[in-house]
Amino acid sequence: MEGFRVTGGEKIQGQARLQGAKNAVLPILAAALLPEGETVIRDCPDIRDAQAMAGILNTLGCACRLENGQARVDSGRLCRWEMPEELSKQIRSSIFLLGPILGKLRRATVTFPGGCDIGLRPIDLHLKGLRALGVRIREDGGVIHCDGGSMRAGNVYFDYPSVGATENVMMAAVLLPGITTIHNAAREPEIEDLQNFLNVLGGRIRGAGTKVIRVEGVQSLRGAVYTPIPDRIVGGTLLCAAAATGGEIELLNARPRDLKPVTEKMKEMGCGVWEMEDGLALKAPEKLRAFSPLHTRPHPGFPTDMQAQMLALSCTAEGESVIVENVFENRLSHVEDLRRMGADIQVCGRRALVRGVAALHGARLRARDLRGGAALVVAALGARGESTVERADLIDRGYDHLETVLSGLGARVERLTGGEDERKNESGIAAPFSARSAG
Ligand code: EPZ
Repeated sequence: MEGFRVTGGEKIQGQARLQGAKNAVLPILAAALLPEGETVIRDCPDIRDAQAMAGILNTLGCACRLENGQARVDSGRLCRWEMPEELSKQIRSSIFLLGPILGKLRRATVTFPGGCDIGLRPIDLHLKGLRALGVRIREDGGVIHCDGGSMRAGNVYFDYPSVGATENVMMAAVLLPGITTIHNAAREPEIEDLQNFLNVLGGRIRGAGTKVIRVEGVQSLRGAVYTPIPDRIVGGTLLCAAAATGGEIELLNARPRDLKPVTEKMKEMGCGVWEMEDGLALKAPEKLRAFSPLHTRPHPGFPTDMQAQMLALSCTAEGESVIVENVFENRLSHVEDLRRMGADIQVCGRRALVRGVAALHGARLRARDLRGGAALVVAALGARGESTVERADLIDRGYDHLETVLSGLGARVERLTGGEDERKNESGIAAPFSARSAG
């Protein structure tokens, strides 16, 4: 099992260029099976979820290669519509393939997806959206059989603006003759990016970023070259790392509007934030202040994927911070490890009350999910002494070599792989690492 050793107290300083956005690249990889011919996705991050998605595309008959920071997908020999159970259980985003497979082959068989245990994560809205397009769906012992023989364009009304369900319906409808309108659609920047990608392939989609998306079906799509948006969550994580260490950072290719909900909170903490045309800079204050109550919500509300990192930051801020996780039922599991570092946190259901302490101390920590793991690294960077963070494989699901990016900004972070670090850290706790496990 791989982990990270983090020696706290080094100021983060310098410039960083953000990887392509995981939550844009995954639906874009899925959509790359729709066009005839080859598609090239530049800025494809070297992350475990992208590798797993590539594995599924290859099993379905596509030729998908991830190399030199880009993905090449040739859908010419796509032939299978049954999703391989083992692979699709590895990542939640495997469900994003349902819409494109149905859109292209008019039938699909999938199993309920896996993923991080941050909540129940049902797919009822995905299925409701596809049924509204005339897909006949039969669920049988965890397997979902979809018959799209009589699919037709139409209106889809979502009770909740689900990111994945919105993306699945967009991809199922792009090759469907007629007009499909999605009402109460999700408005995340990654939805706009998927629309732009499909339109580069020859699609006719309008309205992404608003509550109503209009898909005018086309006969066919052609391969193309596309560069996804930069990863706002990686950007937000690096901003938190700079703030936790009293440092300063420039994100060279960040899109300020995508990070607005995060930077507004960081301004409340006393950080200086500068928006540049093609980037963003942040300078931390001597002492962080607590922020006003933080409620996670669908975009443009505060992103749930930044909740853990901001909670970690508030642990050493002057005053009390309240964090309420409204999007996922079980996304406060990082609290236990932060308490191990000396944090003062009370949890009641989905609400956490954090009383700032003078400083955190190093400890042996364990990532429980992707963003919770990143939050522990942020806390360890600002803490006194050394920490180890186990389960780097969970962090690798969404961060492309986080230790390299942070070390490039002056942090002391190194990757630990089996055995060589069997030594006591400053808090006198042995840090055993065993064989690697699947993410
Ligand atoms: C996407 O997940 C992201 N993943 C998540 O990022 C992100 O947290 C989430 O959107 C919200 O922003 C990717 O894009 C790959 P949802 P998704 O459907 O599509 C409930 C990360 O850390 N729901 O908007 O799964 C669901 O249970 C990951 O990068 C239903 O009830 O999110 C949740 O409570 C984690 N029924 C809420 O809606 C459904 O059919 C939001 O889910 C679908 C969702």
